[in-house]
Amino acid sequence: MPKFYITTAIHYVNDDPHIGHMYENIVADVIARHRRRMGDDVWFLTGTDEHGQKIERSAAKEKILPIELADRVVKTHHDLWKRLNISHDDFIRTTESRHRVGVYELIGRIQERNPGDIYLGEHSGWYCQSEETFIPENQVKDGLDQEGHKVEQTTERNYFFKLSAYSDKLLKHYRDNQSFIYPQTRMNEVVSFVEQGLRDLSISRTTVQWGIPFPGNPDHVIYVWMDALTNYISALGFGSADDKAYEKYWPANVHLVGKDIVRFHAVYWPAFLMAAGIELPKQVAGHGWWLRDNQKISKSLGNVVRPYNIIDDFGADPFRYFLVREMVFGQDQNYSDEAFLGRYNADLANDLGNTLSRAIKMSSDYFGGKTPPTPCDDNDLLLAAEELIPEYLREMDSFAFQRALDVAWRLLVAINGYIVSREPWKKFKETGADESLSRIIWNVLESLRIVWTMVAPVMPTVSREALTRIGADPDLITKDALRWGVLPNNRPVRVTDPIFPRIDTVAYIGDPKKMSESQTPPPVETTQAAPPDLAKISIDQFMGVDLRVAEIRAAEKVEKSKKLMKLTVFTGDSERTIVAGIATKYTPEELVGRKVVIVANLQPAKLMGVESNGMVLAASIDGEPSLLSVDAGVPAGTKVK
Ligand code: ME8
Ligand code: MG
Repeated sequence: MPKFYITTAIHYVNDDPHIGHMYENIVADVIARHRRRMGDDVWFLTGTDEHGQKIERSAAKEKILPIELADRVVKTHHDLWKRLNISHDDFIRTTESRHRVGVYELIGRIQERNPGDIYLGEHSGWYCQSEETFIPENQVKDGLDQEGHKVEQTTERNYFFKLSAYSDKLLKHYRDNQSFIYPQTRMNEVVSFVEQGLRDLSISRTTVQWGIPFPGNPDHVIYVWMDALTNYISALGFGSADDKAYEKYWPANVHLVGKDIVRFHAVYWPAFLMAAGIELPKQVAGHGWWLRDNQKISKSLGNVVRPYNIIDDFGADPFRYFLVREMVFGQDQNYSDEAFLGRYNADLANDLGNTLSRAIKMSSDYFGGKTPPTPCDDNDLLLAAEELIPEYLREMDSFAFQRALDVAWRLLVAINGYIVSREPWKKFKETGADESLSRIIWNVLESLRIVWTMVAPVMPTVSREALTRIGADPDLITKDALRWGVLPNNRPVRVTDPIFPRIDTVAYIGDPKKMSESQTPPPVETTQAAPPDLAKISIDQFMGVDLRVAEIRAAEKVEKSKKLMKLTVFTGDSERTIVAGIATKYTPEELVGRKVVIVANLQPAKLMGVESNGMVLAASIDGEPSLLSVDAGVPAGTKVK
């Protein structure tokens, strides 16, 4: 049985996990579930990174001990992974003693094999606490690094690792192992970084107490990245008396990490391992970032998204589906609840759910509540399935989960086309439940079974339910299930409620309690325009104001603001966002579809963190806004003068 060892990054415990962490664990889980059913002996590791200045400072802010903070946050990790159905085999905390054992073993092996590789030296430079790393001078501007994190000048007498000695060996390794870093863009970045020459790496700190003491010199703690990276082997018992798991599973098949930390995994980590004479992981795969308004979602930028509302209201599976389907692996993607709701209704309620209900209903009506009595091994759906299954498997093996799901949806399209062209309801009326009708309905159910088997790693709970409903064995989602001819005959089917009930998007979005918690720092509420200038203006000045009719297409309250409403308006050829102080008077439902007059050429302004492009005209009665109305027949975009 081939082994398959997959890890996620271990997440900092300075705050609860957010959507980026959720995505990473979900993708790892999809891979792990898929490899398990394909017959691999899978080991899936996740965990938490608990040392370092970042956690030390967060804890100090709360006036608690770092370990208290870590214990609290780890609990939310465990709860969340359970809720999201993450099937990890182990969870490592870097504060565990088994981890410390592994770290000491790694350093010990480096010192033993390559005694010059770790030495005491002096280091000063710009330190970024958020990323726990020194930032090269040329990447620092106005006290910030390229990602906008604060950096500070730090000088330390530290232990160093002779990273400079590994440039050539690393470059050779990249050349010889083209898939070592995935995707290719990340490989190219790493190669050019290493080609510029590597500087030795400081691997101890004296300014931090919260860490693993440096062996032989407890005034120092081990640099948090050296500490953290070692989790991938310490969790397997590396350096302990019981290292069977290490012997079995190392080297890792995939280290799944965000693109921001590919460098640590593809440069530092392999260099440490080379120095210690340990085999390198097979692959470092870098996924993209979830963004909010085109900015990376992160604690330090203060725009964290935790869509607990979505998980509570829809369950883990639709959320898992959305994250995996919406993001092209490796690329960045904006998150919004609206996009989730759109996909939920279109892909799940409509395509996947309706096709299922329809097929089960027919089978039940025509064949007495059972799957049809006669199977079929020569038909169009079989041909489609036989073409699509290998394609699906290829996509699953190349991190193209989005395309793998797309393949399943192509089979759904084929199923629907088949139903329409065969018109089983007509056949039933004309000739009853004969053998030919049996074959048709069986083909539909059998290919649906394959669709649900394809989506099983992504939606493990709902797919079991669906397979049960169509009379298939819910446990049979293995590679043997990914072929034609598996659905049993004369098995009870279950006609019941829709598996994905449709959601009223407008009502959901209109309910402020429902929208995802987004911790946008509460900016000062900017008030509307300056006091009116009562001096008269010329006609030219007036004509300089571009007044237009616009149609409100979407409206939502701006979070943490009583007055502000975020409007999406259509101005005849395009849409734009306008933030208007009308939320005390109007609800989003009243606004959508309404035509208003806007100032279209106002300079953009940020209101409560949302960029507003224009202004909606309203009369003000004692501060209460009353929107100007426009006759219904006037098209959006019409000039007002
Ligand atoms: O970097 N979108 O921890 P971390 C997608 N402790 N992924 C994101 C993301 C976003 N907006 N924000 C973060 C660390 N991630 C270290 C790792 S591993 C030995 C040590 C990803 O909590 C990020 O890229 O900042 C990383 O892979 C993981 O979440 C943990 O990030
Ligand atoms: Mg980070």
